[in-house]
Amino acid sequence: MVNAEQKPTFPGSKKSFRQSRYGCRAIVTGASDGIGREFARSLAAEGLDLVLVARRRDRLESLAAELAKAHGISTSIISADLGTDEGVAEVIAETEGQDIGLLIAAAGFGSSGSFVDLSVDDEANMVDVNCRSMVRLTHHVANGFKTRGSGGIILMSSLLGFQGVSYSSTYAATKAFVQSFAEGLHGELKPFNIDVLAVAPGPVSTGFAARASMKFSLAAKPNSVAKSALAALGRETTCVPGWISKVLNWSLLPLPRWGKTIILTKVMRQMAG
Ligand SMILES: NC(=O)c1ccc[n+]([C@@H]2O[C@H](COP(=O)([O-])OP(=O)(O)OC[C@H]3O[C@@H](n4cnc5c(N)ncnc54)[C@H](OP(=O)(O)O)[C@@H]3O)[C@@H](O)[C@H]2O)c1
Repeated sequence: MVNAEQKPTFPGSKKSFRQSRYGCRAIVTGASDGIGREFARSLAAEGLDLVLVARRRDRLESLAAELAKAHGISTSIISADLGTDEGVAEVIAETEGQDIGLLIAAAGFGSSGSFVDLSVDDEANMVDVNCRSMVRLTHHVANGFKTRGSGGIILMSSLLGFQGVSYSSTYAATKAFVQSFAEGLHGELKPFNIDVLAVAPGPVSTGFAARASMKFSLAAKPNSVAKSALAALGRETTCVPGWISKVLNWSLLPLPRWGKTIILTKVMRQMAG
């Protein structure tokens, strides 16, 4: 873990709504790129101190320095592989004793193509990153939040998580897991004053598409996804952010589940070329 900068004092600075509700320090996984990086930027602008987690240390270091300089917050980075239990254990050990009040679990990736032709190691690793490490980290912070009497958890689902999708079968299934998990925890953790939100975007212009070998013709901006999600935390169970995701979601709503699978499989075949 690296401390990028000591937090300067800003006399007279007021607590933001998020600070009053969730305390002053948040963990953001997947902070080296895309949606996670924009969550970090939004929270930093509100004055929250941040623990930034991903594998690419250089990107985390430059983001930590950028945010500390622009907003006078305290930032630390943890370069860890969340595809391993050791990576999760490192995050837990490095944040021990810190008053964390918010978890943004944005680390994740997808794939596209015929399941039998994809690398089974990569598909299993996707389950580890998108689901297994997310469960371990959520369990750890939820216990801390229960003890401190409040907290917030944002988990990244997807529109693909509302039904099976051929040619992205494993990814859609990981997001169905996240969606269901978040919906369950939402009610279960409410009595402990812990807010849980599932965020289910459609296409977003980040590093995601290139890594998943997809091409998006229309995509939302990652900063608008982060802003919509933060506004929905504590108010909703699931946030479908932005007009592109909303239109896609509404147009699929009247269909039976198998109908949604057929439509989204067609979309997926186009996106995967
Ligand atoms: N973009 C979309 O269209 C879209 C739509 C719906 C849902 N989502 C979900 O939104 C979340 C964020 O995706 P994004 O669009 O922001 O993608 P992105 O730009 O590719 O960012 C993914 C982030 O996850 C981190 N990550 C990936 N594997 C990791 C590992 N093994 N250990 C630690 N960190 C890891 C990456 O950091 P390193 O590579 O540095 O480790 C990166 O910071 C994902 O859960 C994704 O499924 C995305």
